[in-house]
Amino acid sequence: MIKATLIEGDGIGPEIMQATLLVLERLDVKIEWDRQEAGMDALERCGDSLPEPVLDSIRSTRLALKAPLTTPVEGNFRSANIRLRELFSLYANVRPAKTLLPDGRFNNIDLILVRENTEGLYVGVEHFIPIDGDPHAVAEASGIITRSGCKRIAKFAFEYALSHGRHKVTIVHKANVLRALTGLFLETAMAVGAQYTDRLQIEERIVDNCAMQLVLNPDQFDMILTTNMFGDILSDEMAGLIGGLGLAAGGNIGNDAAIFEAVHGSAPDIAGQGIANPCALMLSAAMLLDYIGEQAPATRMRKAIQDTLHSDTRTPDLGGTARTLDFARAVAERISST
Ligand code: NAI
Ligand code: MG
Repeated sequence: MIKATLIEGDGIGPEIMQATLLVLERLDVKIEWDRQEAGMDALERCGDSLPEPVLDSIRSTRLALKAPLTTPVEGNFRSANIRLRELFSLYANVRPAKTLLPDGRFNNIDLILVRENTEGLYVGVEHFIPIDGDPHAVAEASGIITRSGCKRIAKFAFEYALSHGRHKVTIVHKANVLRALTGLFLETAMAVGAQYTDRLQIEERIVDNCAMQLVLNPDQFDMILTTNMFGDILSDEMAGLIGGLGLAAGGNIGNDAAIFEAVHGSAPDIAGQGIANPCALMLSAAMLLDYIGEQAPATRMRKAIQDTLHSDTRTPDLGGTARTLDFARAVAERISST
């Protein structure tokens, strides 16, 4: 048995986690879940959205499946999601975008974004400067990027490309304006990439152009390697190419720990209605299975999800009428019948 921490999150989290567990139960996978509370409920009960028991659990399991956690805009909260990535040095955020729907805007999208997950403008070094009685007269933020951080994420991306049969990596940056901050990222990633040019095609692209090109002609990309904030934005855009956030999975990976979660957040606008799309979390669970070497059940799960979507059982975000648990039951049945 492999032990893994399970965080059901808040907002739509508990609904999509219940759906995902229903499907996982049908697969013969040897995972023992250590269920831990985090998020808004934990914040209300013990004053911290990431209480010590959840951290202790991940310290011991080094592996988690996590549903989304809300970060209120009001108040002075550091995102629990970002804290987890920092605490466990989960420096690589891997976000695939693969066509699952037959009638999407594009066919055969198959992209992987690798996002640097611990540095850049998301380090949270920021403050206001009060002037003339206005406490928020000026806001100032520092982005922090290190050569060592760039080296490790670049090496991760190129090695990932080789081990997953990819052929091209596009380094995405804004080095024409943020000359130091993303210039260092570009310079370092290109230098690391020089050792791979015999096996991989490596190119670079400015982020705004990349955003436009992704919508116009996504086929020109294979893998994208980028900084924290650009990766956050471009991965939501890539989710849009395959039908929306309800289908976009991800993994936060470090040298000795990993947390798998959907790209999307807690979707408070539809929470509690039983209509959230559980696919993104299910596909993240499939990535977790791949990570622990359980490729066969991971493939079975992905196929059952795809077949269910093709059979027109879909949640409302994809134009269907299925409820979260209807969809999960349909996937579970497909698994049992294959
Ligand atoms: P969001 O990703 O939660 O929602 C954006 C839009 O997509 C909403 O209209 C929502 O209904 C829809 N959506 C998202 N997931 C869906 C699903 N599975 N099925 C159907 N529709 C879905 O982004 P938003 O609203 O900006 O953020 C809400 C909260 O989530 C915030 O507190 C934010 O900080 C947090 N968040 C947490 C993340 C995490 O846990 N890793 C990641 C992103 C946001
Ligand atoms: Mg995001």
